Amino acid sequence: MTKQEFSSKIEELSKLQGYQKPEYHHGVLKLDSNENFVVNKQLQQDIINFAQKNSDVREYPLGKSEKLVESIASYVGLPKYMVGIGNGSDQILDIILANFASRKTKILTSNPTFSFFEERCKLYDIPTIKIPFTKNMTLDINDFLSKSKQADILYLDSPNNPTGFQFKKDELSRIVSKFDGMVIVDEAYGEFSDYSLASMTKKYNNLIVVRTFSKSFGLAGLRLGYVLANKKFIDVFTRVLQYPYPLNALAIEAGVFALQKIKQIEETTKIIKEERTRIIKKLRESKAFDVFDSKANFVLFDARGADKRIYTALLEQGISIRKLGKIGKHEGCLRVTVGTKDMNSKFLLAIRDLLK
Ligand SMILES: Cc1ncc(COP(=O)(O)O)c(C=O)c1O
Repeated sequence: MTKQEFSSKIEELSKLQGYQKPEYHHGVLKLDSNENFVVNKQLQQDIINFAQKNSDVREYPLGKSEKLVESIASYVGLPKYMVGIGNGSDQILDIILANFASRKTKILTSNPTFSFFEERCKLYDIPTIKIPFTKNMTLDINDFLSKSKQADILYLDSPNNPTGFQFKKDELSRIVSKFDGMVIVDEAYGEFSDYSLASMTKKYNNLIVVRTFSKSFGLAGLRLGYVLANKKFIDVFTRVLQYPYPLNALAIEAGVFALQKIKQIEETTKIIKEERTRIIKKLRESKAFDVFDSKANFVLFDARGADKRIYTALLEQGISIRKLGKIGKHEGCLRVTVGTKDMNSKFLLAIRDLLK
């Protein structure tokens, strides 16, 4: 690469936006990144203590990730040779895109979809076909099936970020079984929804399910993701594509321990689902918003032109939510993460006061 080519490449890359993280605000109620604060401090402390006790960070974590893979396999009910791990599901998605997609492969997805995925497609110059959401923030299966004929890869976040929409299980299964190409189903929010396609990876070799510890396990800071797929794919993923040590020793141990505490984690998921129903109900009662159903740990609503005012006013009161702007026919969308009961009550009270 000549100096000129090097400069041109940097120039070309600098035109990309990259993934837009939420603005950082110190000391606010964080309802902007779909994290999980219902997993309490004590459980977090127990996880960290266990990880600390069981690791020696002077060593590479040789032979450690296998233990985590085994624990994940028993959690999802698949053999361990169908499980791969990564530094967050972001990294897994990146590896898949970098190695299985190119300028010549078209990816069919929804509009919007997980924005990191969209940005990565731009980075690798991968063309995408995007199916828009309807006015009710749902997707039309027939649109998907007919457009899928033009695509080589299908990517769906199930449930979708940022809308919270999830196809019915038989619909998504139909898409997977009919599509002649690779299907990536991103179940980052799978535990908050009604079903998982994990077990379908036994039947369909073209199905790749990506999951994470960042959401229902409340371990976003540890960067723990995993992928479920056929044996041959996982072998290539782990042996050839993935780094030798993608997860640090502490994160591996933390993941193993968190899976031992699955009952406690599941209780927090239950609370989040109940709170999600409460938030949707209360926001709808205000009659000031269009509030969409959600199968994830967040709720999307259209503030009908008041989005910027509401976002700023909440921030002034120390509550940070996500401002998303136009989605389909809805001009002013906001997304709020379902937090603890107390956090959600503060958010709902603040909204009520703003509408007075
Ligand atoms: C749909 C979806 N997939 C993947 C991720 C990334 O998860 P991780 O923390 O495992 O990288 C997110 C995070 O917000 C997401 O919304």
